[in-house]
This record gives sequence, C-alpha cells and structure tokens, in this order.
Amino acid sequence: MLPTDPHAGEFLLRGALEIEGRLVDASNATLFCAIDHDGVAAKCVYKPIRGERPLWDFPDGTLAGREVAAYLVAHAAGVTLIPPTVLREGPFGPGMVQLWVDTKEGDDLVDVLAPDDVPQGWRPILHALDRFGDPAVLAHSDTAPVAVLSALDVVLNNADRKGGHVLHGTDGGVYGVDHGICLHQENKLRTVLWGWAGEALPDEAVDALHTLNAALKTTLPDELAPHITRAEIAALRSRVAALLGAPVYPEPDPEGRPIPWPAF
Ligand SMILES: Nc1ncnc2c1ncn2[C@@H]1O[C@H](COP(=O)(O)OP(=O)(O)O)[C@@H](O)[C@H]1O
Ligand SMILES: [Mg+2]
Repeated sequence: MLPTDPHAGEFLLRGALEIEGRLVDASNATLFCAIDHDGVAAKCVYKPIRGERPLWDFPDGTLAGREVAAYLVAHAAGVTLIPPTVLREGPFGPGMVQLWVDTKEGDDLVDVLAPDDVPQGWRPILHALDRFGDPAVLAHSDTAPVAVLSALDVVLNNADRKGGHVLHGTDGGVYGVDHGICLHQENKLRTVLWGWAGEALPDEAVDALHTLNAALKTTLPDELAPHITRAEIAALRSRVAALLGAPVYPEPDPEGRPIPWPAF
C-alpha cells in the first residue's frame, strides 16, 4: 500500500497491528509494526501515547494527536507530503499509527557534505567544520515537493524538521515524518529547510495554501479540535492568512534557534 493510496487511512484504522521492533534512533516509544487487513499487508509506525515523554513547552494534548493534526492539515491542503496518520488503539493503548514509507539507502534529500560534493542545484543552509576541522555544508534538495514541504512547515509551525524527517520514498514521493511538536500557537519554526528563505513561494505552495484556507472555513477546524487547542487552530488560521498575504518564505530569526540540533 502506497502513502498516496486514498484507502490508506481506513486501512490503518482497521488493520491488525503486530509489533516487530523499536526504532532505535527515536526519542519516544516509536514502534515499527506490521499491519494487515482484508489480505493487504503493509508496515507502519505506532507511537503509543503512554510512551510519550512530557514536554514542558508542549503541555497541551498529545504528541500523537499533533501528528494526526499535521496529517489532517496536509491532507486538507491537497498534498500527499505527510504519510496517512490516524489515532487508534494498539497493543500499548491508544496512539498514532502512520504508514511506513519505503526509502532507498543513501537516497537523501538533506545531507552534510564536503563543499565540492554538494549536488548541482541543492541549497546550502549552513557552513561549518566537521570533527576533523574540514569544511562541511548542511544542504538540501531543491525539488518542488521539498519546497512545498518547507512552506507547509511554516503553517504547521514545525519545531523539529530534522534532515532525517524528510524521506524520499521509493515511489518517488517526498514525505515528512515526526510531527509531534507542530502547531503550537507561538512561533517555534525550527527546520533544516531554510534554502528558500526570502524567496517567493512557488505556485504549487500558494495553491496548497488556498486549498487549506478554504478547508479552514469548512470542516477542518472540527477535525482538528480533538487534537489541538482552539487557540492553536486560530493561530494556524492566522499563519495561513499571513503567508497568503505575503507569499514569501520566512527568514530565520537570528535571535532564536532556527535549526534543530542535532540536525538529523
Ligand atoms: N512513516 C515513516 N516511514 C518511514 N520511516 C519513518 C516513518 N516514521 C519515522 N520513520 C523513521 O524512523 C525515525 C524515528 O521516527 P520519528 O518519528 O522521528 O520518532 P521520534 O518521535 O521518536 O523522534 C525517523 O527519523 C525516520 O527515519
Ligand atoms: Mg524524530
């Protein structure tokens, strides 16, 4: 089952979950599972709410609920940049379940490279020295879906877009994962995708924002209400309106911590 399959949400809600392992580089209880329903089998991530470490700066709701809310926002914007994500019961109680995205080893969209190795057209965002004192560049791909994901992060107010949270699926799609700390009402944008700062949004991103803006006037607020606060829904509406009013990628705040650390 591909993340773009329109039946994936239903499948994730109804499928039988079987835990196969724990993702080692994950900070919370993040479990890798097999899921099957009606003869269809796939892999998914299951993050039980019970395994969440409380965060002082995200006191409301749950990280699992924020992941589902982020998916609902992307879906309402008409983009497939976040794999289908649902809230459901699992072996360790309620949690978020997200379809697994198959990727190919070494096929990265964000990387740390020697300056001469940065692929043509990639956007450098940070120059540093590696642990041997040699120059290194944190850079990312400049393809259209990554640019739309970067704009989506602005309205999601993503506080943790690390390099390892931008996946290049073997189906050719670009997918963002790990949206547990999104949608806060205060500005917390922290991302590695700063490559377009100060530039105009591409038409695809503007179109997605218009679609999202329309959804915010109909059913989306009710869909989001179980997962984030009313103030956070209002803040989302304001961020969408502001970005449509001035459709330019924001610049990093030099006073803040605009890049997540570690960056992967
Ligand atoms: N839906 C997914 N498909 C493929 N890989 C995923 C998916 N979700 C997470 N991963 C991989 O697992 C790692 C850990 O998951 P993540 O969501 O970042 O967990 P945590 O919230 O604990 O940081 C990610 O960096 C990514 O490499
Ligand atoms: Mg993570």
